[in-house]
Amino acid sequence: WRSLEQMDLRGKRVLTRVDLNVPVEGGRVTDATRIERIVPTVRAILAGGGMPILLAHFGRPKGRPEPSMSLRQVLPALEQALGQPVAFGENCVGPQAEAAVAAMKPGDVLVLENTRFHAEEEKNDPAFAAALARLGDVYCNDAFSAAHRAHASTEGIARLLPSCAGLLMAEELSALDRALGNPERPVVAIVGGSKVSTKLDLLGNLVEKVNHLVIGGGMANTFLFAQGYPVGHSLHEPDLAETARGILAKAEAAGCEIVLPRDLVVAKELVEGATESFASPHECPDDVMILDVGPQTVSYVDTLLRQARTLIWNGPVGAFETKPFDAGTHAIALKAADLTRAGGLVSVAGGGDTVAALNDAGVADDFTYVSSAGGAFLEWMEGKALPGVAALG
Ligand code: 3PG
Repeated sequence: WRSLEQMDLRGKRVLTRVDLNVPVEGGRVTDATRIERIVPTVRAILAGGGMPILLAHFGRPKGRPEPSMSLRQVLPALEQALGQPVAFGENCVGPQAEAAVAAMKPGDVLVLENTRFHAEEEKNDPAFAAALARLGDVYCNDAFSAAHRAHASTEGIARLLPSCAGLLMAEELSALDRALGNPERPVVAIVGGSKVSTKLDLLGNLVEKVNHLVIGGGMANTFLFAQGYPVGHSLHEPDLAETARGILAKAEAAGCEIVLPRDLVVAKELVEGATESFASPHECPDDVMILDVGPQTVSYVDTLLRQARTLIWNGPVGAFETKPFDAGTHAIALKAADLTRAGGLVSVAGGGDTVAALNDAGVADDFTYVSSAGGAFLEWMEGKALPGVAALG
């Protein structure tokens, strides 16, 4: 793919796909991280003499206009991040969009209304992609976090205009390549989250690529259960025991060490401030739930990270949203941050919960790279080609 720097943008209308799918409460943006991360691309387009026309989706409005999902509500946060006023087009195609584009002057930034207000967007309808493409001279995709969707504004349009990757897209791709495509070894992956069923492809891909795979969170319970350990009334997926054993066998054949919890934090209920106790995996009592990894596990992960050159992390290792079950995730996050700061470790993390956990621990800024993507980060970790990236050529 071509980078933004390789394009001649002077006097060009630059249709720029960004991800403005940010959390909003009561019409106000509550976390502007994604908005802040597209600012360098918008500024670079302006500096190159181009006119940025931002295309984006918001929520899942099912192909119909839905006022609560209007992109108008993100304008104040975008204006604040850019430090300039931003114009708004009431539709992303047709006469309203064309008029809004025609009214642009050099230096202006325009946002067009939610692409998902049209069912044709998610169908990747060629006529709709062509209607979008008519609004610009160049296409720039800066939405890595939407690149797993083969939609008209992420995929179809890239085939109709001279196209390039925006700065955030390029940054994401190079960070992810450094973590898994072409990493310095040893590589440690940490995968957590509640269910094995949502991360089967991911685990299957990782065991072939990393040296150590730490499995935490509710999904570790399924692995413990599959190996005959008692799991009390913990969340686990008994139907996937065979699949879990298959992943363990695949890892062994590939020379990847799977690290399961060596000690457990358990409690009778998952409530804030619950009384926790520690148990070994051999003796998890019947009347408790496994809610976090214990200090011995944290210490073993620390040993691995000290020897590692690369860490890739998706998913908390405990029920981190409920204290005190955030302790394992916090402790590992702090250790990874220390090693990264000291210069020995390249640390890359992604996925909504993971980023929330790192923010909670106050160390997100210390990681080498924190991806802005949720679903796209997972699909990339699964080894899948992302349509929005593939279409850039
Ligand atoms: C995201 O929030 O992860 C992206 O914007 C993609 O949104 P989607 O899952 O609704 O396609």
